[in-house]
Amino acid sequence: ASHMNIEEIRGRSRVILAIDEEEPRKYWNVLDAVGSSVKAVKLGWMAILSLGSDGVKSLINGHDDKYFIMDAKMADVNFINEKIARRMAGLGFDGIIMHGFIGPSNAPPSVMDVFVLISMTQGPTLYDASLERAMDYTKAIDRRGIVVPGNKPDIIRKAREQFPSDVIISPGIGAQGGSIGCAVKHGADFGIVGRSIYESSDPVESLKRLEREA
Ligand code: XMP
Repeated sequence: ASHMNIEEIRGRSRVILAIDEEEPRKYWNVLDAVGSSVKAVKLGWMAILSLGSDGVKSLINGHDDKYFIMDAKMADVNFINEKIARRMAGLGFDGIIMHGFIGPSNAPPSVMDVFVLISMTQGPTLYDASLERAMDYTKAIDRRGIVVPGNKPDIIRKAREQFPSDVIISPGIGAQGGSIGCAVKHGADFGIVGRSIYESSDPVESLKRLEREA
């Protein structure tokens, strides 16, 4: 858990590092390699499966200068979402990603920052067939921000118009074709970047280049 909130981090960094690896050591190695230049990290089910929940807790405890988001892509009924969110907060996560289509009645209580997914990097999905309605569902959810595809600038721009004060985080940078400069120009606050950093022969240089482009 970070001592900085996500808005404070935005003033210093535009990259959220995603790590989805098989090998437990790689999580530690990548974070060691990038050091304090990374302020926010997104983990997901691969991290829970590879490290186990205790391992994830140690990883977060061992990097208490960073803000950690759990990409749960949560979409269950409300009492389950609440239990999961409380457990994730207990592991040290600062934020959690949920699907927007489940609407406000199934959203977890604000035990941590909630980021609502309103469109995906791959598709087509049902989100794109009814983007306006997905946005309406999302607006009704108590949240800190939204997740919008970084490789779809038109959707980022629409989302920024509709969500002027949300923290917009955008995956799909690099390996999935998006550019961080383009995403930020269209209204994203952060690009979420995985393989382009953790599979790079020089993760620090890759990170610096992305920060410069943003
Ligand atoms: P790469 O390696 O492609 O990793 O930089 C991308 C990361 O982002 C996640 N991802 C998404 N998350 N909505 C999300 O909430 C999406 O549309 C989406 N597309 C990719 C993916 O899980 C990985 O961690």
